[in-house]
Amino acid sequence: MPVWLLYGVFSVIFILASTALFFFTLTRGALLVRGAMGSLGNDTAHVYPIYSNMRLIKLIDFQPIIAAILLFQYDRLVSAITSGLRHTDLAGQRVLITSCAFGNVIPRVVTAAIESGAHRVLIADIIKNELTHAQSKLASLPGKLELLEENATAMKQADGSVAANVIFFLLHELPHHLKGEALREAGRVLAPGGKLYLAEFHRPDVWVLRTLSWTYFKVFEPLGLALWDTHDPLMQLETMGGFTCERRTVFFGNFQIIVATKNLAD
Ligand SMILES: C[S@@+](CC[C@H](N)C(=O)[O-])C[C@H]1O[C@@H](n2cnc3c(N)ncnc32)[C@H](O)[C@@H]1O
Repeated sequence: MPVWLLYGVFSVIFILASTALFFFTLTRGALLVRGAMGSLGNDTAHVYPIYSNMRLIKLIDFQPIIAAILLFQYDRLVSAITSGLRHTDLAGQRVLITSCAFGNVIPRVVTAAIESGAHRVLIADIIKNELTHAQSKLASLPGKLELLEENATAMKQADGSVAANVIFFLLHELPHHLKGEALREAGRVLAPGGKLYLAEFHRPDVWVLRTLSWTYFKVFEPLGLALWDTHDPLMQLETMGGFTCERRTVFFGNFQIIVATKNLAD
């Protein structure tokens, strides 16, 4: 093998290994350290440093990186949500985004909600830096926004106070006992007839992807694997009752979008 090719191969391996180590250190590694130090007691203990440290937030939040993390399905997943919002009459209503996320999901959801007539869009996150960062992406949008430092598992919003609620890849990062709490709160604040849009990981249909995905979750995000079975969000919503749910999976079943409509009788 020519020397230049050898250098090339080693360089690629080095870059991939360094990237994996970087993300491991700032996600699961940080939680392991917190656990070892006995500091997992507060409400934000499960939040990775990449979501709380402003320098890290700014370093990582680049659309191509975020799209790659979601296997280039990001745009498709966001479009499924914005299309749902655009086909709903939200005139005079409030729309909630429960937890911030990297990329352009927030501006796109806010724009779709406002264009459908929403009178106010609330963005709730447990980390203030995430809200500040989200606001910087919304500078061009009019003053219909409200940024709320709130916990998705114990929202301060009144029952039935929003017409739509968007949760984008939050559940897989929550400790298991909080996954159901977040869904319960999402349902509680939704008005009868209102819709919860939930984008998340799902158990892939094909074994190659399933194996790769399983390995990813085991190494980086072990709290996410339960979405495949014991904490399947569709199953949890149906067990809670009061919703009519539709689930669509994309990219060989690797991702899911659930639209849960709150029944009028509840
Ligand atoms: C939605 S998740 C991850 C999204 C996805 N990995 C991405 O960015 O593409 C990350 C966000 O959830 C927020 N978060 C975590 N736990 C929360 C909670 N209990 N309540 C509200 N926000 C929470 C974090 O602060 C962070 O802004």
